[in-house]
Parts: sequence; structure tokens; C-alpha cells
Amino acid sequence: MKIFILFHDFTRCLLHLLLLAELFVHTSSHPATSPSLCRMFRSMIHQVDRLMSFSKNLHDLVRLHSVLLESLPHIQHSFGYFSSLTVNKSISDLYVYTQSLKLHVDWLKTAKENVSLSYQSAEATSPHLLQLSNLLNVSLHQIGEETPQSMLPSFPLTYTAFDVLQFSVEISGQLQVFCSWSKRVLIHLQRLSHCPKH
Ligand SMILES: *[C@@H]1O[C@H](CO)[C@@H](O)[C@H](O)[C@H]1NC(C)=O
Ligand SMILES: *[C@@H]1O[C@H](CO)[C@@H](O)[C@H](O)[C@H]1NC(C)=O
Ligand SMILES: *[C@@H]1O[C@H](CO)[C@@H](O)[C@H](O)[C@H]1NC(C)=O
Repeated sequence: MKIFILFHDFTRCLLHLLLLAELFVHTSSHPATSPSLCRMFRSMIHQVDRLMSFSKNLHDLVRLHSVLLESLPHIQHSFGYFSSLTVNKSISDLYVYTQSLKLHVDWLKTAKENVSLSYQSAEATSPHLLQLSNLLNVSLHQIGEETPQSMLPSFPLTYTAFDVLQFSVEISGQLQVFCSWSKRVLIHLQRLSHCPKH
């Protein structure tokens, strides 16, 4: 009889432990799906796809090497970044990069205008960066994170038309890198957040 009670208690205890473990697994590796955040991710991927097409014609020149713009964001590609990626950190990073690129593209537009170069592609790119940046900001608010402060880059005050062409090659290259990186991050975030495929 006593053994039976002990056994009974033991199985009850085991059952509780199992339920607890189950609960833990659910809360730790399966955060609740947020439909509004998933909608945000879809809109962001759409913006990135649009940006990708602009990044290719931001400059109409052969590739040049230039180290003129060191203020462009340094994007982390490493495997380490992806393996430790969290939703809040990634959205923050994406926001900072997007803001920085937007400042660069806006500056490029004015600089091109000032040296009488065609600036349509820079002008057309900017609204997509703004839209992406707004989506990221809204998502940051949804997950209760602060909007990170963006640093104002220091741009050259004097430049020639040739300098501006080099800047545009540099910025356009960075935009391409940014687009493929952010698309990977966003797809990863969709998976982390258990968003439905469509
Ligand atoms: C993200 O959230 C975690 C836990 O909720 C927190 O420890 C971490 O500091 C946050 N990271 C950022 C960049 O806000
Ligand atoms: C373009 O030229 C105007 C007028 O000369 C100047 O105020 C402005 O700073 C220039 N823009 C850039 C991006 O250098
Ligand atoms: C970010 O969003 C918040 C609330 O939605 C808004 O008050 C704030 O002005 C936005 N910040 C930027 C930089 O757009």
C-alpha cells in the first residue's frame, strides 16, 4: 500500500515535471506568433526587394574602388551574428543601417544635383528607405523597444563631379550588401517568430 502511494506520488511528480518542461520548451523556443509583427516582416521584405532593384542603377558606371565613405554602416555577416540573432537586436540593427543609408542616399541626391549629375535613381531610392525605416520603427514600438539614436555621418563639404561618382558607386555597393543581408535577417526573423509562409 505504502509503496503504491509512493509510486503514485512519484508518477504525479514526474507528470508535473513533464508538464513544466513542456511549458518551458513552449515559452522558450516557441514565442507566441505575432500576426502584426509578421505583417511588418512581409512589408519589409517587399521594401528590400524594391530597394534591391534600385541599388543596381544608383550608379551608371563601371566599378571603382573607393574608400571615401568610411561612415557607411559596417554590416555583420558572420555566422555568429545569425546564430545569436534576437528579434529586438536585429530590428534595432536593421533600423540603424536603414537610417544611415537613407542619410547617405539623401546626401548623394543633393551632391549629384549640385554637380549637375543625374539624380533620379537616388531620388527614387529614398522613399523606400524611409518606408522601411518607418516599418522598423513601428515594429520596435510593437516589441517595446526604444528607437535607437542614429548618428549623423560627416560628409565632405567640397567635392568634384568625379568624387560624387565615386561616392555613388560606394553607396550603391553598400546598398546591395545591405539588401541581401537584411533580406536574410528578415527571413530568419520570420522563422524565429513562427510567421506563416504567406
Ligand atoms: C533584447 O531583449 C533581451 C531580453 O528581452 C535583452 O536582454 C536585450 O538587452 C535586448 N537587446 C536589445 C538590443 O535591446
Ligand atoms: C549643395 O549646394 C548648396 C548650395 O551651394 C549647399 O548649401 C549644400 O550644402 C550642397 N549640398 C551638399 C550635399 O553638399
Ligand atoms: C517612431 O515611432 C514612434 C511611435 O510610433 C514615433 O513617436 C516616433 O516619432 C517615430 N520615430 C521616428 C524616428 O520615426
